[in-house]
Amino acid sequence: MNPVADTVSKVDTAFIFIFSVSFIILFIITFLMVFFVFKYHKSRHPEPADIEGNVLAETLWTVIPIFIVAAMFYYGWEGYKALREAPENSMNVKVEAKMWSWKFIYPDGKTSRDLYVPAHTPVKLEMTSLDVIHSFYVPAFRIKMDTVPGMETYTWFRSGEPDEYDIQCAEYCGVRHAFMLSKVYVLPEDEYQEWKEEGKEPEKKGPDISVLMDYGCVDCHSMDGSELVGPTFEDIYNRETVVVLEDGTEKTVKADEEYLKRAILQPNAEVVKGYDPMMPSYEGSLNEGDLERMIDVLTGKQEEEKQEPNLVELGRQIAENEGCTGCHSTNGEIYAGPTFKGLMDREVLVEKDGKDMTLTADARYIISSINNPGEHIVKGYDNIMPAYDYLEEKQMKALIEYLSTLK
Ligand code: CUA
Repeated sequence: MNPVADTVSKVDTAFIFIFSVSFIILFIITFLMVFFVFKYHKSRHPEPADIEGNVLAETLWTVIPIFIVAAMFYYGWEGYKALREAPENSMNVKVEAKMWSWKFIYPDGKTSRDLYVPAHTPVKLEMTSLDVIHSFYVPAFRIKMDTVPGMETYTWFRSGEPDEYDIQCAEYCGVRHAFMLSKVYVLPEDEYQEWKEEGKEPEKKGPDISVLMDYGCVDCHSMDGSELVGPTFEDIYNRETVVVLEDGTEKTVKADEEYLKRAILQPNAEVVKGYDPMMPSYEGSLNEGDLERMIDVLTGKQEEEKQEPNLVELGRQIAENEGCTGCHSTNGEIYAGPTFKGLMDREVLVEKDGKDMTLTADARYIISSINNPGEHIVKGYDNIMPAYDYLEEKQMKALIEYLSTLK
């Protein structure tokens, strides 16, 4: 086990102790039950005995459980103390949860959507929520703490070796609860300083598969070669595959870009041999941009493009990192705010000072809505969006470029 945090060993000790005791007791009880069924079976023991009072037995079954329970309490209490007592020299980071993303605010005012910390450092998280109750959960550090609107809660951990760890929301908080994910990046001291000063993000492991997650692709297709309901995505590009056509004939195809597109849009026209034709068609529910992105991930093109992000890609990253896509879908679905799909140059009915008016969502309108969202609220939505007036001109431009691709 990788001892990444003080909290880990204490929590694990309590868990293993309680689990072992429970397991042993289960074993003893089961054994005795079976043993008594045989020993006192009617055929061997026709007359039941009526035993009254046995001081030794009564003392033992009182005293032994007291020791067991007291020991469980001891380890539980030690674990609890470890979770509650953050070292004095901890680095303090504020955490703001909102539907459906995390925001981390560092002592120098810098903010991020993933948590970046230097290695081997105690980190105290002072947390709150801007809307409903969420729960900050990092399984690897064995920490989980609710974030509550109007209240500050805290938790802490000691970052261990450089690595990345998952953050999940562990309290149901609405339709996108399952997507309220983030990461802790534990960086070597020098890389952390670099990130802090230049905002240089460390190389993330593997491809960005968020588009495959958004559409649920990875629920049925693994990324690592393991067998799920459908064929794995690992090395799928240009793989030679035997497929079964709708009329039952078989043919061999090469999984090139054209094939992958067909397989997403008309999945049951050519089903990989050995699998059931059960995949729903994504025709109509998938926009061009997302389809292209899926293909880019599957073919590995995304990895190549990562080297030099263009403006559209930069815009997409900003929309994700700033949490925009937590409230604005890119596929036409309605979350807390209007969808980004087809937003550019759409006629929108907005409310200003209590009056309705129609506007065209051009670049100027969109930039002003980002800087000052309360000014024109699209009819039917609540005035809940925070201002993003700290975005730079270049970032705004990238966002506009990106939005223009979401037709
Ligand atoms: Cu936030 Cu569940």
